[in-house]
Amino acid sequence: MSYPQKRIQDLREIINFHNYRYYVLDDPEVDDQEYDRLFRELQDLEGKYPDLVTPDSPTQRVGAPPLREFGSVTHAIPMLSLGNAFDVEEVVEFDRRIKRFLKSEDVVEYVAEPKLDGLAVELVYRDGLFEVGSTRGDGFTGEDVTQNLKTIRSIPLRLLSTKNVPIPPVVEVRGEVIMGKKAFNELNRIRVEAGESRFANPRNAAAGSLRQLDSSITARRPLDLFCYGVGVVEGRSFSTHWDVLQTLGGWGFKVNSHVRACRDIRGAMGAYQDIEGLRENLDYEIDGVVIKVNSIALQNRLGAVSRSPRWAIAYKFSPRQATTTVIEIKAQVGRTGAVTPVAVMNPVFLSGVRISRATLHNQDEIEKKEIRVGDTVIVRRAGDVIPEIVCVVKEKRTGKEIPFLMPAKCPACGSPVVRLEGEAIHRCINVSCPAQVKKTIGHFASKRAMDIDGLGDKLISQLVDKGLVRTVADLYTLKAEELIGLDRMAAKSAGNIISAVQTSKQKETDRLLYALGIRHVGEHVAHVLLDRYPDIEELMGVSEEELMALDEIGPEVARSVRCFFGLESNRDMIGRLKQVGIKMVFPKKAQRTDLRGKTFVFTGTLQRFSRAEAEKMVASLGGKAGSSVSKRTDYVVVGSEPGSKYVMAQKLGVPILSESDFLAVVNASFTA
Ligand code: IVH
Repeated sequence: MSYPQKRIQDLREIINFHNYRYYVLDDPEVDDQEYDRLFRELQDLEGKYPDLVTPDSPTQRVGAPPLREFGSVTHAIPMLSLGNAFDVEEVVEFDRRIKRFLKSEDVVEYVAEPKLDGLAVELVYRDGLFEVGSTRGDGFTGEDVTQNLKTIRSIPLRLLSTKNVPIPPVVEVRGEVIMGKKAFNELNRIRVEAGESRFANPRNAAAGSLRQLDSSITARRPLDLFCYGVGVVEGRSFSTHWDVLQTLGGWGFKVNSHVRACRDIRGAMGAYQDIEGLRENLDYEIDGVVIKVNSIALQNRLGAVSRSPRWAIAYKFSPRQATTTVIEIKAQVGRTGAVTPVAVMNPVFLSGVRISRATLHNQDEIEKKEIRVGDTVIVRRAGDVIPEIVCVVKEKRTGKEIPFLMPAKCPACGSPVVRLEGEAIHRCINVSCPAQVKKTIGHFASKRAMDIDGLGDKLISQLVDKGLVRTVADLYTLKAEELIGLDRMAAKSAGNIISAVQTSKQKETDRLLYALGIRHVGEHVAHVLLDRYPDIEELMGVSEEELMALDEIGPEVARSVRCFFGLESNRDMIGRLKQVGIKMVFPKKAQRTDLRGKTFVFTGTLQRFSRAEAEKMVASLGGKAGSSVSKRTDYVVVGSEPGSKYVMAQKLGVPILSESDFLAVVNASFTA
């Protein structure tokens, strides 16, 4: 081969490789300058030797002359659409329908994938070269948008070949063209600045960008493609959809990193929950989860009906906002005596959960949002968890709505409700207010505290009302006879409760300290305190100043801890807890170094804590947090939208942990 020919070929390969690193793996190996230098060298050589230009040259992504209209492309296999499911029952029915059709009760495996909100396209590769790309159109015929697709850098112009596996002569790949949320906002910002109209959402922006007759406009739009299936593939067959996805990745396409293989339909529903949880933190829009039968043989047997395959369904996310009405505003007394207004509303479903109550926090908040009883309101789940009222739909007012006033007396005990200077919160001043006592006991018994199985709100309420329990210490001297005769309480269930109470004595002291319900002492602060003062009886005597000297302990926490232990009634209660045999001394730190010598690397966004917090957790247990993955890495913890470290971990076979796996590892070493 002559010099220019060889060099041109090398440059093409190098540049295509760097494209792949940058746009598909999101893990560039060279900086922009180096990339530009290589690119210019190739452009120059191709300028000198135009005969040597090939269609897979990276220079060919842009520069095609504008079209007058799009040609049309017929899909060899029609591009179908998907049936929808909106709740768990419909998904269960989907699985049942499949089994009925197959006349088999065998478990069906699935793959769950984010349902990307963009537009579907098909790319045809002949002898490994990108030849034609088209939109879905009506499913049978679409528009030829080849030149526009070429401008998307994550689309390979030539398929990558993996060791010894020949590239099939014809490969049709299907996927979704999308625009990321950040890129979308940036594009709109620029458009507005230039006096142009905004795109309504990323999907419209992606569609508008892909359907430009002048591909140089498309080239300036930040589009991306995730692949999720194939059409005709000659000379290669697949046994599972999972295999299809892996192969697509091997050929150099971007495959979504949140796809999951699921043992059965329940597994797929679990994946749905997880993916819904990631939704907010993803940089692209998804509107559900596609559940597909994994076996291709079964897919073929199942076939399609009315243009949707029987083997796949789109399980849609439910809307995150809904309109409802406020029926009542109740004043609720919490564990600390705070009297909180709570809106009781006509029930609505949000992200699959029935919502009928939302805290209104305090009087000021109600006034700020001008919420009245009878109002039509928009509710949402803040951070997709806690329901909140976003605003009132004022146009719906009839004039009959009633403003809320904080009651002057505690709804539980009738004691005065006061609002202290500088506080937003109203409080019941009675420390033995039954509502407070009940909440305190409920917290003590809760799962993450002493975990007393069966001791629920209804039972606690009866125990307090009947005078059987005044403080948590009374729980441990309860007798089965005292329980029998309470609502729905027979000998057997009474026995179970008593034994659950007794079992809880085995809980470690960190749980106890958290269970006491001292204001501002959550699980983390409980650990911080016990680290320095492992003995609760010693902690009881520590001064505010000494507490404040601890890392992470501020004046509020210190005051609250001091205040709690300063009360004689609380000290008595702790004395009684000790007497019944509850552990008062936390095992020393030395035993909690289970991660010693272990290296963790984090990638992606974690949901429950920041990267820094996670790294601190590892360090506090004797482990190390690394910044890059190597064979010596023990675990890679993967959050949402992981980067190249995830790919690296897979490549090197380093164990991969989800956030919950990671927590399990940490917790296991805590209790070890
Ligand atoms: S599979 C026959 N997988 O949803 C299977 N489609 O309503 C159909 N979509 O036109 C395609 N994400 O635009 C599949 N992971 C995914 C998808 C997905 C988004 C879109 C696609 C399709 C539409 C079907």
